This record gives sequence, structure tokens and C-alpha cells, in this order.
Amino acid sequence: MGKRLVLFRQRNGKPAALEDRCLHRGTPLSRGRVCHGHLQCPYHGWRYDGKGEIQSIPALPSLPELATIRNFPCIEQDGYIWVCLNQEPAQDKPLFFENLNKPGWTSFHMKTRFSASVEACLENFLDCPHATFVHNRWFRSPTGRRVDAVVHTLEDGAVAEYFEEPREKSVVWWFLSPGGSTMKHTDRFIAPATSKVDYHFSNGRHYTITSSCTPVTDQVTEVYTVISFKIIGFGPLVRLFFEPLSRIIIRQDVVMLDATQENNIASDTSQITITPADLLAPHISAWRSALKNGHNPPVPGKEEKIELRL
Ligand code: FES
Ligand SMILES: [Fe+2]
Repeated sequence: MGKRLVLFRQRNGKPAALEDRCLHRGTPLSRGRVCHGHLQCPYHGWRYDGKGEIQSIPALPSLPELATIRNFPCIEQDGYIWVCLNQEPAQDKPLFFENLNKPGWTSFHMKTRFSASVEACLENFLDCPHATFVHNRWFRSPTGRRVDAVVHTLEDGAVAEYFEEPREKSVVWWFLSPGGSTMKHTDRFIAPATSKVDYHFSNGRHYTITSSCTPVTDQVTEVYTVISFKIIGFGPLVRLFFEPLSRIIIRQDVVMLDATQENNIASDTSQITITPADLLAPHISAWRSALKNGHNPPVPGKEEKIELRL
């Protein structure tokens, strides 16, 4: 969101988030260091506590009355630190990566920078048709077969469920999906900035891919992805293969989204086209524009059936 922040750990081990700008000359405090739980500016050594209050100025015998640096509420949960740019967070708890650290599950993390808006990233992560092109043979191969889908609107977003998806001719399915099993696949948008893809097989195998998008600017998004899976007995072994494979696939998306944004900026129109095959795109846009403009979000409890070819 265009804000420069500096994070550090206080003496009690808790994280603190401050605006990354020293009150003295504006030097980035993130170039400094932490001394006894205080953050020290690298230029003249002023030290700040976690609230952004000055604790010492090395060149002065006593502290004058000075302003404080803006501090932001932050919370540490499951190895992530969440910062809220409002003084009053709208919810007490940040997003919960539900299968991370669950017994029997194996997880890994990815951090990816896209030259794309949060909306474009979310649409991409929840869009099946692109996978048959961008990830052809890696993830999905086009078969032209009919796939039925149902989209439900929810209290916090929307979810699409797919039925009878083709699962042949791709590296991912060959490796991850057990032959003869049935699969339940849902793609879920959780407002404002999260996607969750869930594959659950009849023999108990289960994969979830949760991506939380942080807007660096309107055109750059940092995506934090947690991939969790449950395969009895083989988790760490499967990860050896699954992790590099996931990185190849996400790179393919980065290339496509970067090229798309670059082209859209260069064009004299921002017009795009949404069809019924863009299952969750209208829901993502409706929610995000409602939140941005302070309007009511879309109502939950609606259902829509769509016929696709994948
Ligand atoms: S600029 Fe930070 S101490 Fe001088
Ligand atoms: Fe993709």
C-alpha cells in the first residue's frame, strides 16, 4: 500500500512495526540495528522503542520533547507477522492458514512478487481455464470435456465447486492424484485478498493452497502462499518433488501476469471482458470495490451453475 515500514523485535520478543523514517533527518530505520529491544537509526544513533517513542539521542545529555514515529498494530501468528495500517484493526485475528502446523499435514511456503494488482493475482489463482494454457502438461492439459461448476456467495466472499474435472495428461495429476479416487475441488475467494484452492480425494489425500496478497503498490503485489498436504506416511518425500514443481508453475503465472500488466499500461484502454467462464472474477471485483467505496458487500446465499469446457 505504498507505505514503508520497519519491523523489529522488542525485548519481550514481540514484533513492532513503525514507519520507516527517522524523525531526525528521515533516514530509513530499516538500515539501522536493534539494541536491547530498541531500534537504532544508522545516521546519528537515535533510538526508538516499539511505540515509536525516542529513548535516547547519543549527542545530547538529556532528551528534549519530541514527536513520535507512527507505529502500527501488528500480530505474529504461525510464523507470519501481520501489520494493520489502521490504528483500529477491523478484525481481532488475521487470516488463519488452517492446515499449517496441523498434525499429519506437511506444508511449505512461497513468497512471490507479481507485477500485477491484487485483483489480477486473485483472479489468476482462482481461474481454471488459464491452467490448460499457461500450465499445459504441468498442471492441466486441454481436453475440451464438459465440467460443471457451481458458485456460491458466502459471508466473506465466494466459492466455486467443480464436478468431473479431467485429470489426465499432466505432471501434477500423475504425481498427486491417486488413480481410481474421486476428487472434490473448490476454489474460494476470501475477501479482501486471499485465495484458497482445495483438492480433497476419496482416499483421504488432501491439498490446500492458500495465497494471501499484500499490495506493495497498485501495480505490484507480494503473495504469501502456504501449500499444505496430507498424504499418510510420504509427506516429506512428496514435498521434495511438489515444492520445485509449485515454483515452476507459479513462475509461469508471474510471466503471464507481468506481460499482461505491461501491455495494459501501454494500451490506451483498460477495458477487459468477463465471461461466465471467469467464475470468481465478478465476485472478487464486487467485493473489493464495495470495501474500497464503503458500500455493502455482495449478499451471501446465492447460487449459480455454470457449464465449462476444460
Ligand atoms: S537521521 Fe536518524 S539519527 Fe539522525
Ligand atoms: Fe496459474
